[in-house]
Amino acid sequence: MGGFAGCHHDAIAQLEAGGHAKLICTCDPQPENFAKEQETWRLAPRGVGIFHDYRAMLEACHRGLDLLVIPTPINLHAEMHAAATALGLPVYLEKPPTLDHTELEQMIVADARARKSSLVGFNFIIEKPRLALKQRLLAGEFGAVQGATLSALWPRPASYFSRNNWAGRLMMEGCVVLDSCLGNAMAHFVHNLLFWTGESELFSWAQLAAVRAELYRAHAIEGADTFFVEADTTAGVTMRFALSHACAGNGTHLEMVLCEKAVIRYAVGSQIEVRWNDGRVEKITLEPFDPLIENHLDYYAYLRGENPRPATSLVDSRPFVALNNLAHISSGRITPIPSELVTALRDPKEQKDYLHVASMTAAHENFLVRGVWPSATGWGRAPGEVATPADLPRFRDVVRAMAGQP
Ligand SMILES: NC(=O)c1ccc[n+]([C@@H]2O[C@H](COP(=O)([O-])OP(=O)(O)OC[C@H]3O[C@@H](n4cnc5c(N)ncnc54)[C@H](O)[C@@H]3O)[C@@H](O)[C@H]2O)c1
Repeated sequence: MGGFAGCHHDAIAQLEAGGHAKLICTCDPQPENFAKEQETWRLAPRGVGIFHDYRAMLEACHRGLDLLVIPTPINLHAEMHAAATALGLPVYLEKPPTLDHTELEQMIVADARARKSSLVGFNFIIEKPRLALKQRLLAGEFGAVQGATLSALWPRPASYFSRNNWAGRLMMEGCVVLDSCLGNAMAHFVHNLLFWTGESELFSWAQLAAVRAELYRAHAIEGADTFFVEADTTAGVTMRFALSHACAGNGTHLEMVLCEKAVIRYAVGSQIEVRWNDGRVEKITLEPFDPLIENHLDYYAYLRGENPRPATSLVDSRPFVALNNLAHISSGRITPIPSELVTALRDPKEQKDYLHVASMTAAHENFLVRGVWPSATGWGRAPGEVATPADLPRFRDVVRAMAGQP
């Protein structure tokens, strides 16, 4: 009921009021901690069953359900998805489905037991301007895709990493968590970039041939908070990703698709432009877009047989999960950002503490535009090795070593 699950409750209450959905039951290990929210969502007057355990809930209610929504910690996704699909129930599964490629394969097998495919809730694939631009890209209007870049700086205060027991963790109780900006907070944009470079059809994602990465941290966490990743697709397109939580001030994110005749600049929620080589600039209007409402409605349409497919299936998530795994394999370790580059700042308005790397924007630009790695500018490590999908079997050993586990 807390965290992002609360946002799903808000959205479903709104959808129910509009006659699109009916919430039958919900669960939380401690529903009594959410008395105020339960009143706001009017769970009692709506006749919603409340459970402490998802297994008891499914046992009691599964015959009356069309789908299950799973907006819980990443390390619970696989077991909850398995329990639902064993009963034939499709799932609206929050992204990331898992961040372990072997677990993803098990989930893909499990999903075949459900009446319909599960949806992985990457928010922005169904945006109309995105789909229209991808159609134009596939039709060849912009010429061949020559590269793609993602830059994202999302400040996160120290409290973000202590909000629950899994934030910033690589492993918990022997299981892979791999929580990070690449795998969690900015996962949408990463998956979007793979979508732009998926060339076989509209709903297709790039297949990875090779990945090189340098992972860093400024915060005192087990995982990385800063990623520099370069990935070659099997079609020969090079993508570069530069992401960090080690910053303060305003957050920014920008997806760029570099084509023969134009550059597409797509900033979710703020601006979309096509900059043609001949000087024309085409601005594309962003319509209001409520990701949760829109994705719920889109998935319901698929479940009713009105859409041919969910926006992102578990199978479609393979490149995203592989990218996360190969980035860790390639980097081999997580290097502390040199302390002289990190400043501790307190935001007096928010009363929150941030770690800020003032040279991060320059490091992003150097990497995304010129291909210069931070390791070449004194960030205290050797470059990452080239990792290919054939290296995936080494993933667990690499993560165990990173987490200091035997
Ligand atoms: N789509 C988006 O924009 C978006 C935004 C934020 C988070 N997320 C995703 O949502 C998921 C949850 O993230 P979060 O940060 O809200 O996590 P969180 O740790 O705050 O957990 C969410 C809720 O799950 C509940 N929970 C924990 N164990 C449970 C159990 N055994 N049974 C039932 N409920 C249980 C917690 O009590 C909490 O209320 C993640 O997959 C995350 O990536 C998506």
